Amino acid sequence: MTVYTASATAPVNIATLKYWGKRDKSLNLPTNSSISVTLSQNDLRTLTSVAASEDFKEDKLWLNGKLESLESERTKACLADLRSLRQELESKDSSIPKLSQFGLHIVSENNFPTAAGLASSAAGFAALVVSIAKLYQLPQNMSEISKIARKGSGSACRSLFGGYVAWEMGQETNGEDSKAVEVAPLSHWPNMKAAILVVSDDKKDTPSTSGMQTTVATSDLFQWRIKEVVPKRFDEMKESILRKDFATFGDLTMKDSNSFHAVCLDSTPPIFYLNDTSKKIIKLIHELNKREGKIIAAYTFDAGPNAVIYYEQENELKVLGLIYKYFNKVNGWEKLDTKTLDTSSDIQ
Ligand code: PMV
Repeated sequence: MTVYTASATAPVNIATLKYWGKRDKSLNLPTNSSISVTLSQNDLRTLTSVAASEDFKEDKLWLNGKLESLESERTKACLADLRSLRQELESKDSSIPKLSQFGLHIVSENNFPTAAGLASSAAGFAALVVSIAKLYQLPQNMSEISKIARKGSGSACRSLFGGYVAWEMGQETNGEDSKAVEVAPLSHWPNMKAAILVVSDDKKDTPSTSGMQTTVATSDLFQWRIKEVVPKRFDEMKESILRKDFATFGDLTMKDSNSFHAVCLDSTPPIFYLNDTSKKIIKLIHELNKREGKIIAAYTFDAGPNAVIYYEQENELKVLGLIYKYFNKVNGWEKLDTKTLDTSSDIQ
């Protein structure tokens, strides 16, 4: 039996300008454009391998060694799109194998605990879609393929690119112009670092899809955010990335995280993702920036209490030293040479 295989990895991406709100739920079309930083391949990532054979009668997915159901509408939508693009190729060239008709066996693994409350679905759908696009030898570019990943999980479309990525919301009702584009590669800003502080590894309180629906339907503040705040911030943030202007990038990142959590609070019933530890981290970072007289660190929080702190390499000892000082009782510092951290600061 002939088995055709391909593999792809996709890292987690962390939004600095948040996607929150769908104008079309089944196509995952957003109510605003967003920006994110894709972590490096050495950090948190999904590795997916896919095999197709005439002898595979059905599609199967193993996620972290466990056979999972492939019944979700989102996964089905991604597979259907990929198969239809492959069919186009097969109809033009009868000599290529009819992979679109074969079952797929998909094996997907995260190099981080799936239950750690970190955005795993973005990396998961991105790796799934890219590995199958490779197997099918689809000629489409990454922005085109990102439209398929978007249907799996909105934020997944951004994980198809490394570095700094924009998801342009688009205007079309069919989603043809709602795609990810590269703003700058990771190498553009080599001293940018991200620290992930796992505040809680509990499952999300409110899943993102239902949280977004509640906000879109009930928050007045949300209308202001998508019309008056985000469009301007989208351009400003892209420019700050291109200029490697950390102070502006960090300021906009923190403001947008707070704006997103504000519209969550303004929803009925209100949605709370931050906890007291998250709020302590917010306070610490603002105190640090104030003491330094400029923004050297920026926090952002997704739909949960875990923090991602962006900073430039040269400020690592200061930023991590401060966090270590307040949270050193927590597990997870083992890999760090804590003796070199700057823990001199005192913030109440
Ligand atoms: O793509 P989803 O449905 O997991 O939603 C992601 C929502 C946020 O993580 C809060 C923001 C974002 O832009 O990633």
